[in-house]
Amino acid sequence: MSVPPALRPGALRLGVNIDHVATIRNARGGGHPDPAKAAQIAAAAGADGITAHLREDRRHITDDDIARLMGATDLPLNLEMAATHEMLGIALRHRPHAACIVPERREERTTEGGLDAAGQYDMLRPIVDALGEAGIRVSLFIEPSERQVEAALRLRAPVVEFHTGRYAHDGGADELRRIAEMAALAGKNGIEPHAGHGLTYDNVVPVAAIPQLAELNIGHFLIGEAIFDGLAASVKRMRGLMEAAR
Ligand code: PXP
Repeated sequence: MSVPPALRPGALRLGVNIDHVATIRNARGGGHPDPAKAAQIAAAAGADGITAHLREDRRHITDDDIARLMGATDLPLNLEMAATHEMLGIALRHRPHAACIVPERREERTTEGGLDAAGQYDMLRPIVDALGEAGIRVSLFIEPSERQVEAALRLRAPVVEFHTGRYAHDGGADELRRIAEMAALAGKNGIEPHAGHGLTYDNVVPVAAIPQLAELNIGHFLIGEAIFDGLAASVKRMRGLMEAAR
């Protein structure tokens, strides 16, 4: 298993998801704007990692982007992928630092919920094992529930990423409390907890304040804000909010 980038005690990494730079590029079919350039700007602005989701329909990141993203900066690449044999083959070929297994449905606009790691244990087992044996740090994108954390433990996943979509969409102290409790449970059991989806300047602070969380992966909002303020400014501001929460 590869070693995560040095983490100061109490520090919280920011993984910048650059998918939607590719969404804009693909709207015209050319090379502009280039997600690799976005990765370089994010790195210079203080991002700790780059995250990209190679979807089955290649609606944003493409196969060619993976090698380009890995070559563009020294930051670790977190490749989000569905648990399919095609994606496993691609991950094993490129060997990104980390692979985050997400549920994927062709008709969805974005990842709409966590993976059912408990219900899909038998299907996930060989994929998690193959990624781990290749030295890729496996993360499972799950809902903040005890059943899913226990399944991640049985699958021997070193990382879980809690889906914050429900918290981001509906707000609410209950969902935030569930995320905090499950981050503590994961941490107590030796699993590194991450979180992401739907995070913005307005809702990031309570999540960033959860002490066990080691990484937040944020995309759509940062790329959207980049239209108004520039990517460096949006990454810096998000980082500042995350740091202030610790
Ligand atoms: N984490 C995971 C596993 C995701 O699938 C996504 C969306 O691709 C994100 C984080 C980032 O979510 P958002 O784009 O809403 O910030």
